[in-house]
Amino acid sequence: MHIPIETEDTALVIRVNQNRDPLLVYIGKRLCNSTEYASIPSFDAKQRNGDYSGQYSAAYTPSGTRNLLEPAIQVIHADGNPSLDLKYVSHKQDMVNGSSAIILTKIQLKDPVYPFEVILYYKAYYKENVIEQWTSIRHTETDVVRLQKYSSANLYLSSAHSYYLTHFHGDWAKELKPEEMLLTAGIKVLDTKLGTRADLFQAPSFLLSMNQPIDKDNDDHGEVLIGTLAWSGNYQIQFEIDPLNNLRLIAGINPYASEYILAPDTEFVTPSFLFTYSYHGSGMASRNLHRWARKFRIPQGEDTRLTVLNNWEATFFDFNENTLAALIKDGKKLGVDLFLLDDGWFGNKYPRNDDRAGLGDWQENVLKLPHGIGYLIKEAEVTGIKFGIWLEPEMVNPKSELYENHPDWVIKAPNRPEYYYRNQLVLDLSNKAVQDFVYGLVDRMFTEHPMLAYIKWDCNAVIYNAYSSTNPHQSHLYVDYVHGLYNVLDRLRRKYPTVPIMLCSGGGGRVDYGALQYFTEFWPSDNTDGIERVFIQWSYSFFFPAIATCNHVTDWGKQSLKFRTDVAMMGKLGYDIVVSKLDEHELSFSQESLRIYNRIKHIIWYGDLFRLVSPYRSGSDIASLMYVNENQSQAIWFTYLINNRYRAGSNRPILLKGLDPTKTYKIQEINIYPDTNNSTIINENNVSGDYLLTCGFNPMVDDKRKSVVIELTEQSL
Ligand code: GLA
Repeated sequence: MHIPIETEDTALVIRVNQNRDPLLVYIGKRLCNSTEYASIPSFDAKQRNGDYSGQYSAAYTPSGTRNLLEPAIQVIHADGNPSLDLKYVSHKQDMVNGSSAIILTKIQLKDPVYPFEVILYYKAYYKENVIEQWTSIRHTETDVVRLQKYSSANLYLSSAHSYYLTHFHGDWAKELKPEEMLLTAGIKVLDTKLGTRADLFQAPSFLLSMNQPIDKDNDDHGEVLIGTLAWSGNYQIQFEIDPLNNLRLIAGINPYASEYILAPDTEFVTPSFLFTYSYHGSGMASRNLHRWARKFRIPQGEDTRLTVLNNWEATFFDFNENTLAALIKDGKKLGVDLFLLDDGWFGNKYPRNDDRAGLGDWQENVLKLPHGIGYLIKEAEVTGIKFGIWLEPEMVNPKSELYENHPDWVIKAPNRPEYYYRNQLVLDLSNKAVQDFVYGLVDRMFTEHPMLAYIKWDCNAVIYNAYSSTNPHQSHLYVDYVHGLYNVLDRLRRKYPTVPIMLCSGGGGRVDYGALQYFTEFWPSDNTDGIERVFIQWSYSFFFPAIATCNHVTDWGKQSLKFRTDVAMMGKLGYDIVVSKLDEHELSFSQESLRIYNRIKHIIWYGDLFRLVSPYRSGSDIASLMYVNENQSQAIWFTYLINNRYRAGSNRPILLKGLDPTKTYKIQEINIYPDTNNSTIINENNVSGDYLLTCGFNPMVDDKRKSVVIELTEQSL
């Protein structure tokens, strides 16, 4: 029997053999005739040099019986038996909400001896070509079962002769540096053990290219799978090249220090693993994922966003009511929608005047804000812009009243010295009382200040000395923490479904589709240097749509204001500068930039992204990408100089993408700095899409024109 899980272009096929073993026999292009999946050959278990266990391609590999390779699940039964077998029992395929846009496949597996059951879920988003996969685990044994490993997904890829993995690693201000490698025999592991801020060193998102490295000269070429785990805590993704030279991919919560004790008749549901398989390179794979995220995952993903003026880099901790009131007026003058008050507004016994004190004491500091937040919100209202605020609700400084009053709410190990990350510790969100505290804090902000329009939710520390003083199972802490966090966010979203909330974690320490169920946008990095950001945003663009990517113009970096503004426009534009320090030209340029952005932002937010020239390509002088709206009548094209070598620039035309060859376009340079020499400004009429796709166009980027933004508009003939 075969169970095909299909989207418009892709299929994942599970074969149930005569032993009732569920095997994953195919991931690839959807066949026109689904009965032909039955002809796909199996890897013979009996043959010498074949699959000795009959389980290399298991749809969810159990361990302790005949398994020889990495398992997806490992358990110890109530009677101490450490073995598991999983046989097919039944399956069901249903439309979700009565629409064929999403088909949910549910495959029930059971151990033939123990009352232990696993259900594999596959949600196929038909048009977006995205498959979301997770697992539910349950038993009715006489006592608890110890889950030692409980993955979300177990894929088997066997159609390529080689597999190239691109993963993304980094640190603070160096997020998402790609590294590509040929997967060779053995196991390559991507993981984190950081607890919170889990992605700081390694993102749970990757590209997998079949048969050849990712084509850096053509983003729309090649067979590429993009995968990402929707989990904001410790994860583990394993890539095992097996003895048959096939790829086994196992992704889920990291089993490290996380044995889960499952009581009878309770369900453990794993987080989702998401993937899309593209025959048109990482370009198509990203567009699939972006569409899916806007439509199905990110709150208000197809709605609007607010432009922001943040005060973090403008003031750091040094401000008071009067300076903030002036900044609010500056925000209005600049033309943004909202003023965002960052860190430093709270704490009285231990004022938050630097990052060493006050975290956890969420009362306005009476010296800085004698009339409270309410006064500032009023000021903003009178000025005509909205007001938002920074919170870091999961954290505490040891120098705080919160720490003094609730030492048992803090994650720290007995008999061990405390160890700090940014002078702070993490609150134990596995504790219901702490969840209520965090929920109550945010709820109180909105209840006391109904006009509060935005929250930046930060998370600046990792977990050291992982130990909960209330959790009966220490090995549950890492997992229960994330469930506790989601529980709080879920409660908040039920009460405040539309309020914009920015996901921040000392930059991009927590950007994943688990968190992004609750957040409208994310902060990719504290590094806002224009050149650095071209690279960082490029990496994020593989997985996350522009509408959710907050890019702010700051004073970090030596590039011109125009360069920094152009870079920040490739997403959700914002500012973090001292507006009053801008000279007349800079101010009028920025005001005009915001007007332009408001006119074109729908193309960037909802359009399709085409990466044209990669900054990561070796010897690349430029980076270039464009967004094209759905009916191909409008596009915005960004190109940047990223190399300082002699005569570096866009020395030849760049082939455009995503346009309609039968349409004719006007090509107009936009966001020009006021005193730019007019002679180089691009303004062309009646150029065919055919020409632009085939022969390209040179945006004339060079040392004098380091960044160029071009608008393409369909012309009616
Ligand atoms: C983190 C964030 C910054 C800022 C500071 C405030 O580093 O990433 O944007 O909010 O915290 O302390």
